Amino acid sequence: MYQYRLEKVAKVFGRQQVAVEGIDLEVQRGEKLALIGPSGAGKTTLFRMLNCTLRPTSGRLWVNGDEVAELHGKRLREVRRKIGTVYQQHNLVPRLRVIHNVLSGNLGSWSTMRSLLSLLRPLEVELAYGALRQVGIAEKIFSRTDELSGGQQQRVAIARVLIQDPDVILADEPVSSVDPSLASAMVKLLLDISEQTHKTLLINLHSVDLALAYFPRVIGIKKGVVLFDLSPEKISDSLLEDLYSGHLPDNQQDKVPDEEPSSLVYH
Ligand SMILES: Nc1ncnc2c1ncn2[C@@H]1O[C@H](COP(=O)(O)OP(=O)(O)OP(=O)(O)O)[C@@H](O)[C@H]1O
Ligand SMILES: [Mg+2]
Repeated sequence: MYQYRLEKVAKVFGRQQVAVEGIDLEVQRGEKLALIGPSGAGKTTLFRMLNCTLRPTSGRLWVNGDEVAELHGKRLREVRRKIGTVYQQHNLVPRLRVIHNVLSGNLGSWSTMRSLLSLLRPLEVELAYGALRQVGIAEKIFSRTDELSGGQQQRVAIARVLIQDPDVILADEPVSSVDPSLASAMVKLLLDISEQTHKTLLINLHSVDLALAYFPRVIGIKKGVVLFDLSPEKISDSLLEDLYSGHLPDNQQDKVPDEEPSSLVYH
């Protein structure tokens, strides 16, 4: 059963800003894959179509067998609910306690959020606790979110997605603002969780190293099209050069002379 099927999916903003030009893709349920590609390639736009917050301009997109163009109202909300998105700017409310940020993942509206702030039910505490335990910071449940480290906040953002109990996790560059060892820990965490809970995981990564090290399938996107869709051992240096040609890797732009780059991070 396919989690996603895309046929010539395109997104054009305004009259001529082609963000995604025509993507054909099939993703099986439970698959784990990484998307890489230069800045502006269309990765975030693709994710916004995959989480059904943006409709394709043309082409056809199926989520779990449902064609998205035919979904509206309640049914569309149900489909969206089964797709959890983790963003780079994790959109947590800093001054709230961790538990409230986590539970907000399960709410449809801020008015529900407000009523929740005044009264926590034991069941909800248990739910949030379970999600925080999965990301390894259960003891922070009642801490203020802005008192957590960057990496811990990222874990809260993942916990917030987990209590939604989605079928799919879309992670849009969830690790570009953390240090490299933390970044690989977060990627492993997302992989472990999706493996254990049989979720499909799609992740946009700026770090080619992480994509190649951890994902069985890596898709290179450039100028809104798929340049390659391969297992990591088949991805040669020259393919990567093609993918990023015209885009210098970060560590080349501000390279200190004679210093070997330890990992390649492209934008
Ligand atoms: N709402 C919008 N209106 C107009 N153009 C947009 C909009 N969103 C994205 N674009 C354009 O679409 C193209 C693809 O953007 P997108 O954010 O999908 O790239 P990306 O691959 O996620 O890049 P990055 O790696 O920098 O996050 C860019 O040229 C961008 O300027
Ligand atoms: Mg992006």
